[in-house]
Amino acid sequence: MSLGTEGPQVVASPTFFPAPAVPRSAPVGTAARPLPLIIDSDPGLDDALAIGLAIARPELELLAVTTVGGNADVRHCTENALRLLHAFGRADVPVAEGAEGPLTGAVVRATAIHGEGGIGRSVLPPSPASPRPEGAVALIARILRETTEPVVIAPIGPLTNIALLLRLHPGLAERIAHLSIMGGSIGEGNVTISAEFNIYADPEAADIVFRSGIPITMMGLDVTHQATLDAAAAARLRATGTASGAIATELVEFALDRVGQWYGGTTTAIHDAVAVAHLAIDDLVGVARYNVRVDATDGLGRGRTVCEGLARRMQRHGLEPNADVGIRVERERFEDVLVDAFGRLP
Ligand code: BDR
Ligand code: CA
Repeated sequence: MSLGTEGPQVVASPTFFPAPAVPRSAPVGTAARPLPLIIDSDPGLDDALAIGLAIARPELELLAVTTVGGNADVRHCTENALRLLHAFGRADVPVAEGAEGPLTGAVVRATAIHGEGGIGRSVLPPSPASPRPEGAVALIARILRETTEPVVIAPIGPLTNIALLLRLHPGLAERIAHLSIMGGSIGEGNVTISAEFNIYADPEAADIVFRSGIPITMMGLDVTHQATLDAAAAARLRATGTASGAIATELVEFALDRVGQWYGGTTTAIHDAVAVAHLAIDDLVGVARYNVRVDATDGLGRGRTVCEGLARRMQRHGLEPNADVGIRVERERFEDVLVDAFGRLP
């Protein structure tokens, strides 16, 4: 059976009362003053493209990649991070392994999409580098302490490591300039009708993070499902002629195969790259201010990001906005950004 290609289409609107677009609050790097960035990730097909993008963009200075169990077991994610960085010419970027599973509750994986090892069928050469023995949370804490300016973190997997960091080192929250998170949804989820994968995989951690008071941008499914690539885009990535472009092509083609088999889909959302692209390009993603709370109860809404954007209701319930939430992205430009990035990599 193929869903989505036959019969009447339902176009879901994320909200009856869309919050108005506003100027972004996330910092943006420049080539002259690149943003110091840590990526916390569970690579992951789209994570891989996000990491490549971060390396390629001169507006970003990638300080570390920390890993978390999510799309695959954390040992696979760590190995993938090492190999991807090596393939993309940056084996010098430190990698440290973090949490295998959530703060509480069952471990959730997305191997049905990303493959058992997390990066489809791709087999990348081993990196000469090894993971840092201190582990993800200690590495992030050390970087936050030692970096002269506040650091931006892009959590593009479950939020377990970031919650642990905040619990273990609450004083370091002020050293985090911004969290550009891929996760959540104003509207529909992708694991359940309520919940997006990264939040569903550890709602308690997400709750801690969204309550932290740290400036947050949430790139949820409402915007990342606009950031899609298709077979023609995969061909453009291959046509860059770089080895990194060939890797990106393989990953995108694997994802396209999966969505094709599942529901006859012909495009795949490169969710995680949106959270990274926003930090390098000022006007690619449009955002609105929302109050975001996480449903960490055990009911049907577990893992839902409850996004309130209506000023009148916020006032009535004493809520303040706590996040920029991505609402739109120019798809063609997003594709160009990725093709350009993978053309710059080795
Ligand atoms: C998110 O879940 C993962 O499968 C992807 O890597 C992305 O971070 C999308 O829901
Ligand atoms: Ca991810």
